[in-house]
Amino acid sequence: MSIRTLDDLLGEGVSGRRVLVRADLNVPLDKQTGAITDDGRIRAVLPTLTALTGAGAKVVVCSHLGRPKGAPDPQFSLRSVADRLGELLGGSVRFASDTVGDSARSTVDALADGEVALLENLRFNAGETSKDDAERGAFADQLAAFGEAYVDDAFGAVHRKHASVYDVPARLPHVAGRLVLREVEVLSTLTGDPARPYVVVLGGSKVSDKLAVIEALLPKVDRLLIGGGMCFTFLKAQGHEVGTSLLEEEMVETCGNLLARSEGKIMLPVDVVAADAFAPDATHDTVPADGIPSHRLGLDIGPETVAGFAAALKGARTIFWNGPMGVFEMPAFANGTRGVAEAIAKTDAFTVVGGGDSAAAVRALGLDESSFGHISTGGGASLEYLEGKTLPGIAALEK
Ligand code: 3PG
Ligand code: MG
Repeated sequence: MSIRTLDDLLGEGVSGRRVLVRADLNVPLDKQTGAITDDGRIRAVLPTLTALTGAGAKVVVCSHLGRPKGAPDPQFSLRSVADRLGELLGGSVRFASDTVGDSARSTVDALADGEVALLENLRFNAGETSKDDAERGAFADQLAAFGEAYVDDAFGAVHRKHASVYDVPARLPHVAGRLVLREVEVLSTLTGDPARPYVVVLGGSKVSDKLAVIEALLPKVDRLLIGGGMCFTFLKAQGHEVGTSLLEEEMVETCGNLLARSEGKIMLPVDVVAADAFAPDATHDTVPADGIPSHRLGLDIGPETVAGFAAALKGARTIFWNGPMGVFEMPAFANGTRGVAEAIAKTDAFTVVGGGDSAAAVRALGLDESSFGHISTGGGASLEYLEGKTLPGIAALEK
């Protein structure tokens, strides 16, 4: 990989220099209280930040949070993230209440050597996500003015052609941070020559989101286990009725074709937990996957499926898992995700958990993170990497 790294930058000396770090601090927030429900992405960027502060850099961190529409929107403020980042760093973080305005300028100007500032949400500015090169470029000019060097440590956003990811590195000396480097190292072993058997577990709600990765993975894997909301479109393609479960009608034919071409590699649920409503206290039973009652919806995979998936995972030497098996946020429908996660953790395989949701599930279910080989901070990014796509953020670092 022809990418310069944080160590290269540190080797040049950063003491007293302003370093702009793009992080992915897009953490899940509680809908009611706005509290951070999983700080994994904040912790993941600490090694890069402490290396820089330890070397005496003035560190300017920027990130997006959620999907505000190009204008300030208080529910997506990074202020509480700045507080949490400060706690984790064991010192305070200066917070700018805008991204490139007066507050940002004075905050950056006030930075002492070894201090950290966090700018307000990048997506409060239309230029960040604009499809127009000039509009993105103008915003990138303003951001780039805050740094003498640029570090990309936002693995979760490298698949986005956004100003802070794609255009800023064209304007400043640029390197990959520790997190981006580690993510790419791990994921490239999966696209290269993984130890076999190589088993992939996919969940999550939509087949349409996962179609490209399924196509790309099928020739490479030995087994592909499918759960989560997207399994119902596959079950339908097998001719089963799925009641009121999540269904992408227009994808049924595609799923049928995939099953026909999969040489038996795809494993689907044999039982599901079917409920009478999408609610934590809904009445529910385990039913065979070919016997879902017409008025019920599947919200998790059943115990027999968990056992079958666990058996398929047992002898694996490489495992990639993306996407929950059910609605794990509701305890009644968390057993599938928990069971599969535990089965993965138990193997001797090299295990990679891909994605914001699956990583959050591991932590929310209280599983030991250290029993997994690597927990990726990127959902879409890790999937697009496995698809073999060119990722704008990585391409920009290679230039
Ligand atoms: C994510 O959570 O998927 C990343 O932070 C990227 O966010 P986005 O999907 O809103 O671009
Ligand atoms: Mg996303």
